[in-house]
Amino acid sequence: MNYISIQDINSLSKWVKSALKIKKNPLKNQDLGKNKTLGMLFFNPSLRTRLSTQKAAINLGMNVMVMNFTNEGWTLEFEDGAIMNSGASEHIKEAAEVVSQYCDIIAIRAFAGLVDKEKDYAETVISGFLKHATVPIVNMESAVRHPMQSLADAITMEEYKTKHKPKVVLSWAPHPKALPQAVANSFVEMMQMQKDMDFVITHPEGYELSPEITKDCKIEYDQNKAFENADFVYVKNWSNFNDYGKVTNIDPNWTVTAEKMALTNNGKFMHCLPVRRNVIVSDEVIDSENSIVIQQANNRTYSAQLVLQKILKKL
Ligand code: CP
Repeated sequence: MNYISIQDINSLSKWVKSALKIKKNPLKNQDLGKNKTLGMLFFNPSLRTRLSTQKAAINLGMNVMVMNFTNEGWTLEFEDGAIMNSGASEHIKEAAEVVSQYCDIIAIRAFAGLVDKEKDYAETVISGFLKHATVPIVNMESAVRHPMQSLADAITMEEYKTKHKPKVVLSWAPHPKALPQAVANSFVEMMQMQKDMDFVITHPEGYELSPEITKDCKIEYDQNKAFENADFVYVKNWSNFNDYGKVTNIDPNWTVTAEKMALTNNGKFMHCLPVRRNVIVSDEVIDSENSIVIQQANNRTYSAQLVLQKILKKL
């Protein structure tokens, strides 16, 4: 079993229930991971993913090895048949096979490069590991998806929803740097699996996510209109998918402010973090009682623990 996409989950509601059960007693399965090793490979920085996944593994009694590939590993070649007479020192074929001998599960973080859309959306790094590793692979944010985050988001919404069919808004917000679409993509895919939620995406015209991801999701270009009566406002920047990887809009009118949150149904503010204060969201909103970003980050441990637990049971 691999965990690459939220779509690897057969029943989201059952998984959320299981995660909440783990949260009540996180040390219940301390023997499950005994003598098993999780290898965590990072091609990009992290705070939450690194520590929460490590914590989850420790809760399950696993050993953990962490490697920052960018600074410490050999540069990898992913192309089959490549003549490796420049740049890369090691082919993914050997690297994945070798790491598989040391680890029972490999977790990988490898962001989109935001230069070559085709290469990013082919998930070059994670696909290379899937092809050549001989142990299960866990996605800790790939070029296209962040399914550990979206599972934590689903857990958090279950805990904080106050009515049967809440309105959930995914809102783009400005950011000075080009960021991947992975978090937004996985949030959309998770929302498509929710049976009783009213979902709308809002962003400036031109900032549409991949239509293969959003499919028939409702898109509202007027952010204020989208926020009306929202129960959850999930905010995230992503760089332009059409003009790939470019920052073509930094309009501060899209920053989430108290005035905007006043349009909601006493809505909860969510963000995966890290967040740029007073660019994505005002201090007033993120410091308000309605902000559940810290609780959301806490649920990263239980989403990771559930994923690892499911995989360990199948080893
Ligand atoms: N939300 C999230 O994945 O955080 P990190 O990038 O700090 O891991």
